[in-house]
Amino acid sequence: MPVVICVGGQWGDEGKGKVVDLLAESAEMVIRSQGGNNAGHTVVTGGREFRFNLVPAGILHPATTCVIGNGVVLDPKVLLDEIEGLVAAGADLGNLVISERAHMIMPYHPVLDRYEEEARGDDRLGTTYRGVGPAYSDKVRRIGFRVGDLGKPRFLEKKLNFVLPLKNAVLERLYGAPPFTVDAILAEFTDYARRLRPYIRDPFPLVQGALAREERIILEGAQGTMLDLDLGTYPYVTSSYPSAGGALAGAGIGPRHVTTTLGVLKAYTTRVGYGPFPTEQEGALGTHLREQGHEYGTTTGRPRRVGWFDAAVARYGVQVNGIDAIALTKLDVLDGIDPVRVCIGYRSKGVAHAHPMANISHLKHCEPVYEDLPGWPGPISAVRRYPDLPPAARGYVERIEELVGAGITHVSVGPDREQTILRSAGR
Ligand code: IMP
Repeated sequence: MPVVICVGGQWGDEGKGKVVDLLAESAEMVIRSQGGNNAGHTVVTGGREFRFNLVPAGILHPATTCVIGNGVVLDPKVLLDEIEGLVAAGADLGNLVISERAHMIMPYHPVLDRYEEEARGDDRLGTTYRGVGPAYSDKVRRIGFRVGDLGKPRFLEKKLNFVLPLKNAVLERLYGAPPFTVDAILAEFTDYARRLRPYIRDPFPLVQGALAREERIILEGAQGTMLDLDLGTYPYVTSSYPSAGGALAGAGIGPRHVTTTLGVLKAYTTRVGYGPFPTEQEGALGTHLREQGHEYGTTTGRPRRVGWFDAAVARYGVQVNGIDAIALTKLDVLDGIDPVRVCIGYRSKGVAHAHPMANISHLKHCEPVYEDLPGWPGPISAVRRYPDLPPAARGYVERIEELVGAGITHVSVGPDREQTILRSAGR
């Protein structure tokens, strides 16, 4: 019963897509467990680039069933565009399954997302404006629309007649915005229903069948632990549960099936949007990391905030998720930087802290405590065996293992599938 949870250990964008794509080669199923089209990544293989927002990265392996799980919120229009883009790039989507339990981002959700953000003023979160927060809020309020509703036009109409007045009241009275009409949404969603029908089903029997046959299943998380609604830097978080517990709920799989929780950590830290980021670097080093690491949002194109590796954040991620193996990505981006700094904890108001504090104001104003490690000149992007890495690069990897409390099994040194060092294949 080898279920592997693939979880982001920082603020998202750790390179989970590449890692999932790699693991999917030997997996029968990949389930995307939460988040929406706020996420995005690119997989490069054989010189071709494939862009993903909602479809699990495993789709590039024709024998792997890829499920968009019940914990996801999806914008049908964005999903259809993505499907078309992937097909045009040469992917076969015959193995794609969309859970009828997944919720949909309705046309009013992105509009409300933008107005709510603007209304927050200086306290805005920096959302992706994709309507993810409003869609999850409606799910919890039990006024959400699920993918399975697409096949029930009369139910859709009845429910829209109840929900739309609630939404329009806010849009018109609070924000002076134009209302949505039932007829227009029905027409739009009738078309989506027709085009998405081949993919929509209840994945329950498929998942249970795979578990019974002890097939390998990868749970693909989106975002990262520090953006988790409960465990992250609230309120500067997303509206779902990117942690390991969220992956299980979002896929409909119980914990006894899990064999490995693989944490994906970038060799430095990035964050998009607002909120505390103790190791942030804004000067020349920040620009260097952003350019070397191509740190621009896949979904929004926003420049990502960048900084040193924060071992206190990573250790927290290892502990709250039960991470027992780590994939360390983008080590090559640190080529030529000397020394390389690692944050090992914080000081706030004269008190030392070993993990990120729940008090956001303390985390915002704390002082990171750094350890300096020797750098290496590089380039390391052509290295494929661990012993062939420069000693200082190995020293960095091994010090991170010590600091965060879990072993690093994969080291990524470039965007291509091939640019991956497996530690087991030569420590
Ligand atoms: P939302 O998920 O669009 O509501 O945005 C909430 C916060 O999560 C913002 O700071 C976003 O920048 C951040 N966020 C959402 N999705 C991702 C992602 O895939 N990678 C990194 N940050 C994300």
